[in-house]
Amino acid sequence: MKKNIAVINGDGIGPEVTAQSIRVLNAVAERFNHEFNYTYCLMGACAIDETGNPLPDETIEVCLNSDAILFGAIGHPKYDNDPTAKVRPEQGLLKLRKSLQLYGNLRPINTYPALEHLSPLKAKQLENVDFIIFRELTGGIYFGKKELNDDKTKALDECTYTKEEIERIAHLAFHFASKPERRQKLTLVDKANVLETSRLWRKVVQEIALQYPDVKVDYMFVDNAAMQIIINPQQFDVILTENMFGDIISDEASVLSGSLGLLPSASVGVCTTLFEPIHGSYPQAAGKDIANPLGSILSAALMLEYLGMNEEAKLVKAACNWTLQNKFVTKDIDPINFYFTSTIGELITDFVLGKITGDVNQENIQLRKSTII
Ligand code: IPM
Ligand code: MG
Repeated sequence: MKKNIAVINGDGIGPEVTAQSIRVLNAVAERFNHEFNYTYCLMGACAIDETGNPLPDETIEVCLNSDAILFGAIGHPKYDNDPTAKVRPEQGLLKLRKSLQLYGNLRPINTYPALEHLSPLKAKQLENVDFIIFRELTGGIYFGKKELNDDKTKALDECTYTKEEIERIAHLAFHFASKPERRQKLTLVDKANVLETSRLWRKVVQEIALQYPDVKVDYMFVDNAAMQIIINPQQFDVILTENMFGDIISDEASVLSGSLGLLPSASVGVCTTLFEPIHGSYPQAAGKDIANPLGSILSAALMLEYLGMNEEAKLVKAACNWTLQNKFVTKDIDPINFYFTSTIGELITDFVLGKITGDVNQENIQLRKSTII
């Protein structure tokens, strides 16, 4: 197959983790005889530096003409600490989501036995954790009216949802929950005891539920959900929620996996789909070759699935698991005995190309290890 992929490296660790995904994708192309054409485009702080605009029109154009988009991360501390900044890198990502109508953000949460020790939770609670958060991505408080009064003493962020906005992501989530490989359970996370928008969500979801009789639905207030994700994460199969609640609980849920650096995501839209790790730009690690590339590589695996390349996706996921099981991990996972971002990328590439057979030459790999003593 021949596919055009838009690549947005972004800021901070974005370029270095995305570079590892491209390596892995090239290995997949070689092994399975595909052709991936990459078009690099700008977004975020790097785009502001170069063009003054966090999302140049050209980037939207390239994305619209691509089969899929691979994105790294955006954000820069110089904007985080300046609440008066007129342009911000995040505006680029939000505008891209809105322009491409990427309304459904899918964030799968799994645990890895090899990483259980990293979680603050007990191993027992981490067994068989396998759920996915469907986060609405183009509505709610993120995109409502924003105001700051003249003497800068009063601010407003409005939260609005329409029935149609709720319906389209609800269908996506119900459809997913009804798949035979899932457990046919959907939990709507809201704050219907307080918010009008949440009450609309409940009403719409109750109506849609009638079309999916096989899916058992339950409703949970977001404050309780935040607690349940920690005390009993096994209970969840598909979580459906609005934009800001989804942002917050997905970072929280990443703690179950052991590292935020591991988690991939897909943002499904009307005309194309974007794949990105859920971690941020992690500026403190930028350029040091220490960031975890697995969130990005697993996002690339989700992209392969979306492009209909299931066998290829499985192989990439198996390669990622293999690194974790063999303790080839980055600094976020093992601060003493860690491997570099590029080494992990290389190992996964070698695995995909079938160059890693049975016994790994530990000694050679040791040489590629960091030397923190
Ligand atoms: C995410 C991020 C973004 C969000 C930021 C960078 C705007 O936190 O994708 O979860 O809040 O949606
Ligand atoms: Mg977030």
